[in-house]
Amino acid sequence: MEDLITDSVRARLALARADAKELDLYSGAGTDFYQRLVGADRAEIREVMALARRTGGPIIDIAAGSGRLTIPLVRSGYRVTAVDLSHDMLSHLRRALPDHPSLDCVVADMRDFRLTRRYALAVLGATSITLLDEDGRSRLYRSVRRHLATDGVFALTVAAGTSAATLSVPQEHEITVPGPAGDETYLFAQQIDADGASRVVNWLRPADLRRGGAVTVLTSRLRVLHRDRLAHELVESGFTPPRISPVRTQDGQEIELLETTRAESLRAAQSDV
Ligand SMILES: C[S@@+](CC[C@H](N)C(=O)[O-])C[C@H]1O[C@@H](n2cnc3c(N)ncnc32)[C@H](O)[C@@H]1O
Repeated sequence: MEDLITDSVRARLALARADAKELDLYSGAGTDFYQRLVGADRAEIREVMALARRTGGPIIDIAAGSGRLTIPLVRSGYRVTAVDLSHDMLSHLRRALPDHPSLDCVVADMRDFRLTRRYALAVLGATSITLLDEDGRSRLYRSVRRHLATDGVFALTVAAGTSAATLSVPQEHEITVPGPAGDETYLFAQQIDADGASRVVNWLRPADLRRGGAVTVLTSRLRVLHRDRLAHELVESGFTPPRISPVRTQDGQEIELLETTRAESLRAAQSDV
């Protein structure tokens, strides 16, 4: 397994004579932490619902996780296929909408999925495109193209402005995360790789450090990506130049929505004129 402990967290552990118990953010108990961290975040829901009203269904929510976007879509009457690599993340979604007739949960890799249906809308929210390296993104685009209906829309989000800038510099600060028995303090640490292309993120509870022993450190690796690069990659992969619009957020986070279709849909529409 790749070592995803940042140097600053490693130094803190050494000081406390503690060992890291590394836990992927999207597996096992990591998924409960993810839920606590972002479960209540309403960002992107308004924009995704507006897109769904325009395109209709069926909809595929790629890297759907615990269903932050899937749940409001299904509750609004859309048929949704939720795809995620993590069975544990999808379990949260299944529990939220048990046996719902309009929901299909599929454990699959977004870089290579093969489903029988074609979709009016494919959504990749929560800036999850940054989970993939260049090869992974190119495979994702191919998989999405295979599954989009004629005129189908592919929508993805990416950090912008000052939010994007904070993702490319090292960070270490405390955050408050809601817990079962009230708010808890976590240390958030971010380390940027030498080439600046990706970042490793860690969360741990400072209270656990004081106790020494094995300390749970939640981890993830994400790429540092700018929307212009994604726009270029989409066009290279046979999509139209994306329409880019800001996502309205309540906490000042800056996010942009990229909306595109298969290039041949645009060419067909132009030749009809
Ligand atoms: C940031 S979460 C987003 C979850 C959800 N869309 C949301 O808005 O909260 C990223 C999700 O991507 C999933 N994931 C990571 N790599 C993946 C892959 N290669 N294929 C499919 N899902 C993946 C993780 O399991 C996780 O559920």
